[in-house]
Amino acid sequence: MKDLQELGTEDLREHVATELARTRRRSAQLTDAVDDADLVKQHSPLMSPLVWDLAHVGSQEELWLVRDVGGREAIRPDIDDLYDAFQHRRADRPELPLLGPREAREYIGTVREKVFDLLDDTPLEGRALVERAFAFGMIVQHEQQHDETMLATHQLRDGPPALHAEPPPAAPDEALPAEVFVPGGPFTMGTSTEAWALDNERPAHEVHVEAFYLDTTPVTNAEFARFIDAGGYRDPQWWSETGLRYRTKASLEAPRFWFRDGGRWWRRRFGEIEEVPGDEPVVHVSFHEAEAYAAWAGKRLPTEAEWEKAARHDPATGRSRRYPWGDDDPDETRANLGQRHLRPAPAGAYPLGEAPCGARQLIGDVWEWTASDFLPYPGFVAFPYREYSEVFFGSDHKVLRGGSFGTDRAACRGTFRNWDFPIRRQIFAGFRCARTPLPDER
Ligand SMILES: [Fe+2]
Repeated sequence: MKDLQELGTEDLREHVATELARTRRRSAQLTDAVDDADLVKQHSPLMSPLVWDLAHVGSQEELWLVRDVGGREAIRPDIDDLYDAFQHRRADRPELPLLGPREAREYIGTVREKVFDLLDDTPLEGRALVERAFAFGMIVQHEQQHDETMLATHQLRDGPPALHAEPPPAAPDEALPAEVFVPGGPFTMGTSTEAWALDNERPAHEVHVEAFYLDTTPVTNAEFARFIDAGGYRDPQWWSETGLRYRTKASLEAPRFWFRDGGRWWRRRFGEIEEVPGDEPVVHVSFHEAEAYAAWAGKRLPTEAEWEKAARHDPATGRSRRYPWGDDDPDETRANLGQRHLRPAPAGAYPLGEAPCGARQLIGDVWEWTASDFLPYPGFVAFPYREYSEVFFGSDHKVLRGGSFGTDRAACRGTFRNWDFPIRRQIFAGFRCARTPLPDER
C-alpha cells in the first residue's frame, strides 16, 4: 500500500478501484485456469472447492461493502449462510447447494459493479469502517487471502500443471553470514497508523527484546534434508510432546509433497515433478517440524517480537519501518510476493530487500513460523467484528510472519500477522531459526 494517510479523497478512491481490479484479475486467473469440473471438485478435505472461495469472496464483499458501507439492498440474502465460513467446515462444503461456476462468476460480477458504483459517492471519513477506505482495504485483503488459499488448492490438486510463471531471480554470488545479530533493547511493535492494518496488528506498543541471533535467510531444502538424513524425524529428543504425537499419528518423514527416488529427494510443485532444489527455502512444513529442526540445529524459532524487530527496527533512527527495506511498497526487486513466481527464490536473493540487521527474505518467499501463540496486543480492540481475529486468539494457533510467494503485497507488511494450527502443512510455510547469544557473545 502507498502511504494512504497522505492521499486526497479522489486519489484514495482511485487507489481502491485499482486494487479491487488488480485483485479480481488474480482471482480470475486462478479460477479460469481449470475447467468447471475442476472448480466444483474438492481437491483435498483441507480445502473448499475453488468455486466456494470465489462466491465467498463476493458474499463478504456484498455484506461489508454493498449492504453495510453502501447501505444498499441485499443482492442474494438467500446465500449468506452457504458462504459463512463459520457455518460449514471446509470438508462439508462440497455437499452444499453452492452456486455453480457460471452463477458464481455472475454473482461476484454483480456485487463488484455495485461496489464500483457506491465507491464514487461513499464518504471516506466520519465512520471508522470507511475511514481511509478501511472496509475496501479489508475486502481487498480478504480476496487476496482467498487467492492464496486457492493457490494452495492448486498445489494440492492432481493432474497436469494449470498455472505457469517465470522462475524467481537467482541469489547474488556472495557469501552471506549464517546469522545476523540483533542488539537488545526496545522497539515499536504493531501499528496505529497503517491505514489498512487489521485489528490484530494494532495498536503500536513498545516491546523490549533481548539481544538475539537470527538466521540470515530462511532454512533451505538442503539444510532440512540434512535433518532428515540425520534421523531427525525419528529422534524423539528434538520433538515436543505434542509434536511427537502428531509426527507419529501422521507418519511424517519429510515436508509435504516430497518423495524419495533413486537416493534423491523429489517434489510435486503445481503439477510438476522436480528434484528438490537445495538452495530454496523449505516450504510445506508444519510448526512442529520447524520446531524439531531448530532444536536439532541447536537453535529455536524466533518469537514474533524478535521477528518483527529484525524486520522493522531501524537502529539509525530508532523507528520501526513498514518493511525491512524502509517505508516504500514492495516491488519485484525487493520481495517475492503476489504469485509472480510459483516458488520461493533461492536463499540470499533480493539483496535490495535486506533489513538493517542484514536478514534477507523476511518479506515474501515463505511464511515463517514463529514460536508465539496468536494473542492480542495490549490495548487490542476487535474491529470491525470479533470473528476477524478475536475468536482465534489463544494457544491453538501459532503466528506466521512475512508472507509467501503466494501472498499479495496488499496482504503483507512488517506488522502483518498470520495464524494457523501448528500441524498445517499445505500452506506456503517455512521458517528460520534464532538463538540466544552465549555469555561470551553478548
Ligand atoms: Fe473468508
